[in-house]
Amino acid sequence: MKDIYILGIETSCDETSASIVKNGCEEIATVVLSQIDIHKDFGGVVPEIASRHHVKNITMVIEECLEKAGMDIKEMSGIAVTYGPGLVGSLLVGIEAAKTLAFVNHLPLIPVNHMSGHIYANELVKPLAFPLIALVISGGHTELIYMKDHYQFQKIGGTLDDAVGECYDKVARVMDVPYPGGPTIDQWAHEGEDTYSLPLPLNDQSYDFSFSGLKSAVINLVHNENQRGNEIRKKDLACSFQNVVVEMITKKTMKALKDYQVSNLIVGGGVAASKGIRDKLMELCDKESITYSFPERKYCTDNAAMIAASGYHAYLLGQRADLHLNPQSSLELNSRK
Ligand code: KG4
Ligand code: ZN
Repeated sequence: MKDIYILGIETSCDETSASIVKNGCEEIATVVLSQIDIHKDFGGVVPEIASRHHVKNITMVIEECLEKAGMDIKEMSGIAVTYGPGLVGSLLVGIEAAKTLAFVNHLPLIPVNHMSGHIYANELVKPLAFPLIALVISGGHTELIYMKDHYQFQKIGGTLDDAVGECYDKVARVMDVPYPGGPTIDQWAHEGEDTYSLPLPLNDQSYDFSFSGLKSAVINLVHNENQRGNEIRKKDLACSFQNVVVEMITKKTMKALKDYQVSNLIVGGGVAASKGIRDKLMELCDKESITYSFPERKYCTDNAAMIAASGYHAYLLGQRADLHLNPQSSLELNSRK
């Protein structure tokens, strides 16, 4: 069978990325240009600034990716691009680049949901085994998805308010850690002790999550201690915070696996890089004989390799977009034939 090469393009937030993936699982070359240093000063991503930097960098990133792979665009089987969810101005840059390349080179244009990219990042580790439960935890999302086959997404739970990564970043901010503070909180959590008492939100039988109460509890605790002139034991607070997050996430994930009688778990999204969450999920899955996969850390945060990997399956399923493709700031993960 002829090899299929997909060029993936990702610009949904603050990473400008292009990647070439062979047959949906073999990464040939990837370029990720992060804008983190630019947005750090503002404590979060500024949409206007993000899109301007995507415009500045997108051509260079795609060219560098092709050069790294030693391939010509004409050797591609299709162009896969993230069209949502994300920042409209940022998405638009990737979409226009993808449309132009597809049109000029007579290649199929494949629309990819960013969330499916986080799921399919796992195909770069090993082939997905169905049925499975996917846990997607990122700066913008916290979702549990049941899949009985490729591209059959059934959302069974999600956050009712903040996403888990957003919560990590806000908690980090109140402790003066620069954006995005998730990795530092994760590291501190391993160096500190669980000495602060924090609420365990939405501790119920649903598959939904809630993080805003936990975030507020940490922020209030820090403000109160500051007012009293007490010093915050930051590493201990990070540990207590992460323990609550880990408990909430693992409890609902394990319940979903049990209720749906599924023995495969895949995890994706930036927060899947958290050692605290990984270690606990691995321990519980080992106990229950559940197979699991986590993307390599570089494929957890936003990148185009995951978009190309997901785009490969969309390509096989015949999913195509025309030049009317528009960015969608909120986009559900729907099953498509
Ligand atoms: O998937 P991603 O790159 O962007 C979105 O699609 O949202 O995720 C970024 C999020 C940020 O909130 C960041 O703080 C968090 O992932 N993150 C982590 C870790 N590494 C990245 N959170 C906890 N522990 C980590 N090691
Ligand atoms: Zn993401």
